[in-house]
Amino acid sequence: MEIKTDFLVIGSGIGGLSYALKVSEIGDVVIVTKKGDTESNTNYAQGGIASVFSKEDSFELHIQDTQKAGDGLCNPGVVRRVVQAGPGCVEELVGIGVNFTKKRDEDKQFDLGLEGGHSKNRVVHVADFTGSEIENCLVKAVKSKKNIRILENHIAIDLITQHHLRDYKRKPDEKIRCWGAYVLDIEQNQVIPCLAKITLLATGGAGRVYLHTTNPSIATGDGLAMAYRAGVCVANLEFIQFHPTALYHLKGNSFLISEAVRGEGGILRLKSGETFMEKYHPRKELAPRDVVARAIDHELKKSGDVCVYLDITHLDQKFIKLRFPHIYGKCFSLGIDITKEWIPVVPAAHYICGGVITDMEGKTAIENLYAAGEVACTGMHGANRLASNSLLEAVVFAGFSARSSKEKFKSIKDFSLPVIPQWSLKGVFDQKEWVIISHDRDWIQRFMWDYVGIVRSNRRLEQAKKRIQILLDEINQFYKVNPVTYDVVELRNIAMVAGLIIECALQRKESRGLHYNIDYPEKDDKNWLKDTILRPSE
Ligand code: FAD
Ligand code: SIN
Repeated sequence: MEIKTDFLVIGSGIGGLSYALKVSEIGDVVIVTKKGDTESNTNYAQGGIASVFSKEDSFELHIQDTQKAGDGLCNPGVVRRVVQAGPGCVEELVGIGVNFTKKRDEDKQFDLGLEGGHSKNRVVHVADFTGSEIENCLVKAVKSKKNIRILENHIAIDLITQHHLRDYKRKPDEKIRCWGAYVLDIEQNQVIPCLAKITLLATGGAGRVYLHTTNPSIATGDGLAMAYRAGVCVANLEFIQFHPTALYHLKGNSFLISEAVRGEGGILRLKSGETFMEKYHPRKELAPRDVVARAIDHELKKSGDVCVYLDITHLDQKFIKLRFPHIYGKCFSLGIDITKEWIPVVPAAHYICGGVITDMEGKTAIENLYAAGEVACTGMHGANRLASNSLLEAVVFAGFSARSSKEKFKSIKDFSLPVIPQWSLKGVFDQKEWVIISHDRDWIQRFMWDYVGIVRSNRRLEQAKKRIQILLDEINQFYKVNPVTYDVVELRNIAMVAGLIIECALQRKESRGLHYNIDYPEKDDKNWLKDTILRPSE
C-alpha cells in the first residue's frame, strides 16, 4: 500500500495546518500527525502572539526587542519580514474564527499582554488559552476542505530521498530530493510510503529530550532528526529556552504558568518571602527569560530549596479568574488557590531556538522539502527567542513556505514520482527486549537535564557526549533488528537530537543568549558572532 498526494504535511500544529490551508488552494494535501489532530505544542500555548497593534508600539520597537533578546544572532532581514507580516497573519486567524480577547472599553481593540523582553504591550491572546483556540479553529478550517486529509495516529519515520531508491547512483553534484516520507500507521501497525511532490516538515520542538519540560509528549524532535538523517544541516541547537515558571507539583507535570502572569504584576519570591529578581536585572520579573531562569537556578542551588514562588495574591481576585481562567482552574484542581496562595514554580525546558536551516521562503537544502515552525531555524530567534514570537514565526513562515511551494508546484506539477520501495523488513526479528526503550529514554532525559541544562560546563558536556554515543550505538542497533514501533521511532529521534544539542553546546566556546557555560562565562563577539552549524556526513 502507498499514499500519493501533491503536498505532504508532517505535523498538525499552527505551522502545518496554516500551510495546508494555503496550499490546498492548488493541490491535494495529506497531513500526517502522530497523535490526535489537535495534539501539539500549539495547543498548550498560553501567552499569545506578539504583534504590533498598539498606537504606542511600532515595527521598529518589536524588531529591536526581538534582536536584543536574540543577542546578536538574529537575521535582521528575517526579523523585519516576520514582524511586518504579523498583524496580517493575526487578522487571518481572526478570519477563521479565533476570538482574541478584546479590551472592555468602547474601541474593543485587542487586549495586549506584556511579557519578558518586550518594551510595549503587544501580545494578542485569548485569555490564557490562546493555543487551544487557534488549534481548534485551524483544525475546523482544515476539515472543511475536501482536498485535505488528516491521518491521525500516523508517525513519520524518515523522509524518502534518493537514498531509498534501489540501484540509484546519485551524481556528485545532484541535489538530494524529497518525495515524501515513510509513515507508520500506528493502529494498523503498518509502514506506508506516503509520496508527495512537495513535503513540509512542521513537527514542532524537542522539549521531551529533557526530564522537566512544559512540552507535551509529542515534542521529541522527530523532524530535526529526520532532516539531519536525510542530509540537511541543522543549526543553533545549543540554544534551549528554559521557561522560568513551570508549576512545581507532583501531579503538575511541569504545567506552564504563563509569563503573562508576571506581565500582569506577578512577583517571584523565595520561601522566606524575600524577592530576588532586583539583584539580577533592572527589569526584574520581566527580564528576558534566560536571565530569569538562571536567577531562579542560582537561588535554588544556593538555598537547596526545591522551588521558588510566584505571587499574584495582591491582584484583584475577579481579574485573576478572568485573565487566567486556565491557570486558575489547573492550580485549583491541585489544591492551590492562586488568588490566596503563592504558586510553587521551577524552570523547565520549553523551546528550541535552533533547528533545520531554511531560507527566507522556508526552503531547506533538500529539493522539494520545506520546514516551518519550531522545527526550523530561520534566523528569527538567534540565541534567545523573545516571548510569544514563536507562534508568530510559525504562522508567518507557514505563509512564506506555502507561497513558495505553490510556485514550485506549478513548475513540477506534471512530474511523476519515482517507484519507491515498500518498507523493508529484511533482517528484522523481535528481540523481546523492549524494556531497553523506556530505560534509555529515561536515562537520556535525566542526563540532558543534569549535564546539558541551564548552566553548563565543559566537563559535563564531555560526559554527556560519551554517554550519548554509547546509547546511540545501542539504539541504532536495536532499531535495525526489531520491528519499528512508535516508541522506537521517538527514542531514536530523542537520542539523535540529544547528541546534536550536545555537539552544538560543545562547539560554542562562549556564553551567549540561552547558552551559558561556566568555562567560558563571557560573550566572545570576535569569534562567535555566528551560528553553530552541524553538517550531516553522507
Ligand atoms: P507543534 O504545534 O508542536 O506541532 C507539531 C506537530 O507535529 C504535532 O501535531 C505533532 O503531533 C506532530 N508530529 C511531531 N512529530 C511527528 C512525526 N514524526 N510524525 C507525524 N507527526 C509528528 N509560543 C508563543 O509564541 N506564545 C505562547 O504563548 C506560547 N506558549 C507556549 C506554552 C507551552 C506550554 C508550550 C509547550 C509552548 C508555548 N509556545 C508559545 C511555543 C509554541 O507553542 C510552539 O513553538 C509552536 O506552537 C510550535 O508550532 P509548530 O506548528 O511548529 O509545532
Ligand atoms: C508563556 O505564556 O509564558 C509562554 C509564551 C511563550 O513561550 O512565548
